[in-house]
Amino acid sequence: MYEKLLSPAKFGPWDLTSHIVMPPLTRNRAQADFTPNEEAPKYYGQRSSAGLVICEATQVSPEATGYPRTPGIWTEKHTAKWREVVDQIHTGGAKAIIQLWHCGRIAHPDNQPEGCYPIGPSAVQPKMPIYTDAAGGLTENPMPRVMTEEDIRGVIESYRKACENAKAAGFDGVELHGANGYIVDQFASSNTNLRTDDWGGTLERRVRFMEEVLKAMTSVYDPACVGVRLSPYGKFNEIDDENPKAKYEAMLRVAEKSGIGYVHVIRPVVSGNVQMKASALDAEVIDTARKIFSRRLIGAAGYTPESAETELQAGRVDLVAFGRSYVGNPDLVERIRRSVPLAASNEETWYTPGSEGYADYPTAT
Ligand SMILES: Cc1cc2nc3c(=O)[nH]c(=O)nc-3n(C[C@H](O)[C@H](O)[C@H](O)COP(=O)(O)O)c2cc1C
Repeated sequence: MYEKLLSPAKFGPWDLTSHIVMPPLTRNRAQADFTPNEEAPKYYGQRSSAGLVICEATQVSPEATGYPRTPGIWTEKHTAKWREVVDQIHTGGAKAIIQLWHCGRIAHPDNQPEGCYPIGPSAVQPKMPIYTDAAGGLTENPMPRVMTEEDIRGVIESYRKACENAKAAGFDGVELHGANGYIVDQFASSNTNLRTDDWGGTLERRVRFMEEVLKAMTSVYDPACVGVRLSPYGKFNEIDDENPKAKYEAMLRVAEKSGIGYVHVIRPVVSGNVQMKASALDAEVIDTARKIFSRRLIGAAGYTPESAETELQAGRVDLVAFGRSYVGNPDLVERIRRSVPLAASNEETWYTPGSEGYADYPTAT
């Protein structure tokens, strides 16, 4: 029934067991020192019948942090725990990728290691509040400190170092989080980047940060093993670009030029983790990626097994990601194979600490 979706896939350098991707899912259960939690290897192992597992957004440096209990990959201890996660993913048969993250201005010092403060391309304070454990709820998201040239170079270098750690942990590849209003998107977008130096002022200069980060990442990993995630037309985290189409195309051109292996496109039908109305843009963003980017394409957001099969059969995408479904269905691939209805996940435990709603979802009987 889902012949193509469930069949083995050749994806760049990798032979995958299916065309199904577990996309990055932040679960806010990391330890106090930003090490993945003790149950993370089990949680990811349970989901390793996917062809490709892209581990949750993971911070490249202390100052890259933004939210509570989110993991990092800047210490040896972080790297050692990620190694256990990778081993479990490989044992299950999937390839393992890690999504590299810098929150930029979407951050609160109370969520960061001691002595850190949020930074961003420009002094544009988020209007929406941010959650901290210290406040026990939402609190003001502070004005970011404007990044100096030295800060920018330092952040780029932290992506390079994070790639070295990812390699030491055994990850097959790395994905740049270029979506959803975090630092790469903040540089690329006209409302969050008001700079007039070489990092802003024109669209070409706004996407230069992404270009330089990808250069750093591909200096460690074979470009074929590097990807980028984009959220065209997305307004998550108050992104409001003056020309979202041009911005998306410019980001795709940077991806193409960098030689990286894949682009992972979030269709506008989902904004961050929020369902939106389907529109003609959902097809358009996939078409645009195919036109500008010549290598591989992962489609994400709002797919069902049926629509995924259709898109794959038509050759519109090379792999399909199932995000929210992977929270509550560790055996998603088997359920699709056996046409077992997918379970809903409990949204109240998506981002809460503790075991509940994490590695305790049952497989289908
Ligand atoms: C709990 C949760 C956490 C998420 N964390 C991330 C993340 O770390 N990085 C990212 O790029 N997207 C993240 N997303 C977005 C998903 O990867 C995915 O794009 C979104 O859920 C839409 O796909 P779906 O319709 O298959 O759920 C998250 C979504 C949810 C529901």
